[in-house]
Amino acid sequence: MELRLAGLTFEPFIAAADIAARVDTIARKLSADYKGTVPVLIGVLNGSFLFFADIVKQLDIPCEITFTKLASYHGGTQSTMKIREDIELNAAIQGRDVLVIEDIVDTGNTAHYLLEKLRLKQPASLKMCSLLLKPAALLKPVEELKYVGFEIGNEFVVGYGLDYQELGRNLKDIYKKVG
Ligand code: IMP
Repeated sequence: MELRLAGLTFEPFIAAADIAARVDTIARKLSADYKGTVPVLIGVLNGSFLFFADIVKQLDIPCEITFTKLASYHGGTQSTMKIREDIELNAAIQGRDVLVIEDIVDTGNTAHYLLEKLRLKQPASLKMCSLLLKPAALLKPVEELKYVGFEIGNEFVVGYGLDYQELGRNLKDIYKKVG
């Protein structure tokens, strides 16, 4: 069923059951890949809050969690390429295995900004996991992006953490903009 958010129309795109199945697969892979380590998982707020929670609940390895808050869309449906850092990361990550958990990699601008900052803190390893990736929008490859839930086209999506003008984050399914 279509829905309206702040004047835009959205239609169903990825169902909650498909998201859950993919989360399950990724969490199993992370548990295997990080076995024997205690990684620091960094959630990028606000968009990753549901994905982050669903992933960490299913990990069967010890891990630490922390958050940073970055914004780049500022209420529209296209990246402004200007990043605003609302909550700075203060975890000590030197010598640690670090996994950044994102909602979506679009142009890759936010990912590059954050990964560059983290690299300077000299973690033992640095990887990224994103629920969604828009390969056609990517301006340069993000080498640390090792785990991706779904590759999608250049559509604007909401739901399961993602918003349009701060609306739609609470939806269980992911919807895409019509037209
Ligand atoms: P990037 O810096 O262009 O890769 O954009 C990353 C950020 O833009 C994400 O963390 C989201 O907050 C936001 N974003 C990108 N695409 C979408 C979308 O389709 N819906 C909602 N937010 C998006």
